Amino acid sequence: MKYFIGNWKMFGVPKSVNIINKINSFVKNDRNRNKYRIVLTPPYTLIETFAKYFKNKLISIGAQNCFHKDLFSSNTGAVSPYMLKQIGSKYIIIGHSDNRSEGDNDQMLRNKVRFALKHNLRVIFCIGENKKHKKNKKTFTVLKQQLSSVLEKKFKMNNLIIAYEPIWSIGTGMIPSSEDLIKNTSFIKKTLKKIFNSKKTPPVLYGGSVDSNNIEQFSKINIIDGFLIGGASKSSKKFIDIIKNYYR
Ligand code: PGA
Repeated sequence: MKYFIGNWKMFGVPKSVNIINKINSFVKNDRNRNKYRIVLTPPYTLIETFAKYFKNKLISIGAQNCFHKDLFSSNTGAVSPYMLKQIGSKYIIIGHSDNRSEGDNDQMLRNKVRFALKHNLRVIFCIGENKKHKKNKKTFTVLKQQLSSVLEKKFKMNNLIIAYEPIWSIGTGMIPSSEDLIKNTSFIKKTLKKIFNSKKTPPVLYGGSVDSNNIEQFSKINIIDGFLIGGASKSSKKFIDIIKNYYR
């Protein structure tokens, strides 16, 4: 099973439902539709209406972040995983580099993941090295640190998805070489096996400037279990073309 997950970031108003509707119509008639799962993560403001609208359809709705406390608290502007679950969110992105750069640390991320799993959300946990790490050949060290300081063996592995997003590739049009991508994805899977003491691992996705042109290159790398797509997920045509070209 492959995943195509769209991260809308700060984009979308109620009428943007049309974008997801078009994607849904495509999936309905796609002969490959049993091979993949589609998740779209609009901003908090749209989750409830979109989750209701797509309830019995082929697309799942998720959130892009949450606060690091359970249930309710006195933190102004905060939204808990419990609240997101209650309005129909099925998935949640945690640890995106946007949020790490705004102050999310490992301790906060561990709580976010823990509470999200507790409320049966499927967690898409993001990791990735920056340009400097890459240049200094610190990628493995950073990936291992990001995984092992947040994930615990007791976490429900079946509700976890890892998104490998090199920070230097997000929104820049730059993508890793196939060789590096295979190397880093294999390393992530090896590390996950150790953490969970298991032969199986959660799915590992790639994210960072994925578009309908470069997807063919990624489609040749079978150890990648799917994609976290930012910019190109805001257009139904671009998102659909990514899926079409992946299975071409
Ligand atoms: P991008 O974003 O596809 O626009 O590079 C990916 C992400 O931030 O998840």
